[in-house]
Amino acid sequence: MSLPPLASGPEGPDALRPLLDVVLDALRTGTEARGGPLPAGGPAAVAARVRDAVGDVLPDEGDPTALHTLVRALAEGAADPAHPLCAAHLHCPPLAVATAADLAASALNPSLDSWDQAPAASALEALVTRALAREAGMADALVTTGGTESNHLALLLARERHGTGLRLVLGANAHHSLPRAAWLLGLPDPVVVPTPAGTLDPVALAQALTHLPGPLLVAATAGTTDAGLIDPLPAIAALCAAHGARLHIDAAYGGGLLFSDRHRDRLTGLDAAHTVTLDLHKLGWQPVAAGLLAVRDPHELGALHERADYLNADDDTDAGLPDLLGRSLRTTRRPDILKIAVTLRTLGRTGLATLVDQVCAHAHEFAATIRDHPAFDLYDTPTLSTVLFRPKDASDDAVAAIRRHLLTDGRAVLGRAHLDGRLWFKTTLLNPHTRPDDLAALLKLVEGNTPA
Ligand SMILES: Cc1ncc(COP(=O)(O)O)c(C=O)c1O
Repeated sequence: MSLPPLASGPEGPDALRPLLDVVLDALRTGTEARGGPLPAGGPAAVAARVRDAVGDVLPDEGDPTALHTLVRALAEGAADPAHPLCAAHLHCPPLAVATAADLAASALNPSLDSWDQAPAASALEALVTRALAREAGMADALVTTGGTESNHLALLLARERHGTGLRLVLGANAHHSLPRAAWLLGLPDPVVVPTPAGTLDPVALAQALTHLPGPLLVAATAGTTDAGLIDPLPAIAALCAAHGARLHIDAAYGGGLLFSDRHRDRLTGLDAAHTVTLDLHKLGWQPVAAGLLAVRDPHELGALHERADYLNADDDTDAGLPDLLGRSLRTTRRPDILKIAVTLRTLGRTGLATLVDQVCAHAHEFAATIRDHPAFDLYDTPTLSTVLFRPKDASDDAVAAIRRHLLTDGRAVLGRAHLDGRLWFKTTLLNPHTRPDDLAALLKLVEGNTPA
């Protein structure tokens, strides 16, 4: 049997080209077979179809049609964020150009743990991370697998600066990865400040900061997971400065506003943070993964310094080979920066701003439709692109059941959020191609499935 072709090298492009045709055809036919935003039938039916498609996972003899079969099965069974009725999560439809760039990253397979595995990719990463950090008013940024890893690294850098007695103070609206990181890093139990209005209240935070012994790390959120709200960053930054507390801002969702002249002001105060979580696989239209942790003081990254003779021997570093190992907790690391760099250059600030402005405008229009609708309650005017609503007078159990019914039928992917003591449908609008008619159809679908 001849050896299978490789993706890189002089013959790589010619080997890839016909395979790409296979992949694209499988994506098309799988998507057509699904028809809607996600597969019908629920978990058992999907698992059975996948089992049928896969057959023997490791057959004795290989099957050249496996690429088409499995890609088609994945597409048929996908929750497709490019479908306008797939609107639950911070799960964006990736841009075609970013996905194409990611193919090149897979083909070349640079690994960013040493210069001799990634000469150009490491130079590109240095340029792009610093430029993105500057957008957030920071000095440097590390590439991560997303908001969770960024939050984890932020707490790690804070602990290395202030010691293991550092206590995290965060709003009840903060992402679960923050208290989890405190647990993982062996920090004291976090203090959770209630957020009945959805955002961190400076008065309640001031009380906590006044009574708690230091050192303290406050985590604020710019774009909450449930409602897309932004904590009052300038007031929180002023309190942190007054009480000598360190500030981390989780802008995994809201960070995308930095690209928009219309919306950037909402992030005023971001540059007062010591660390900022950004995540371009949310409001940045990147394929997963595309996280960043931006840091104000680049010297703090010294805490991640690591020496491994096979990757960054002292004499290599002294001779001028860049030392990359300290730019992540990971060792082998893919060049997620390529798709980000291609996107920034292809769309420019204006193109990205158009996308951000578009999804925020969709959210406002959708909220206005719900507000005027006799059958629905709107949670609030959206801040970012999240809209929460519920059928008037429905019980929480009914809301949960409608959501699962639409999921199981494969007709809509709606999220859920508990706020103000009630359960709401959550739509996180991240698809710039969605039209007002699509959102009207979504409301009709929910209405048609709401028990009288
Ligand atoms: C505010 C916030 N921070 C962090 C995260 C975690 O990001 P990831 O899922 O990329 O790890 C999320 C995810 O939704 C989030 O909403």
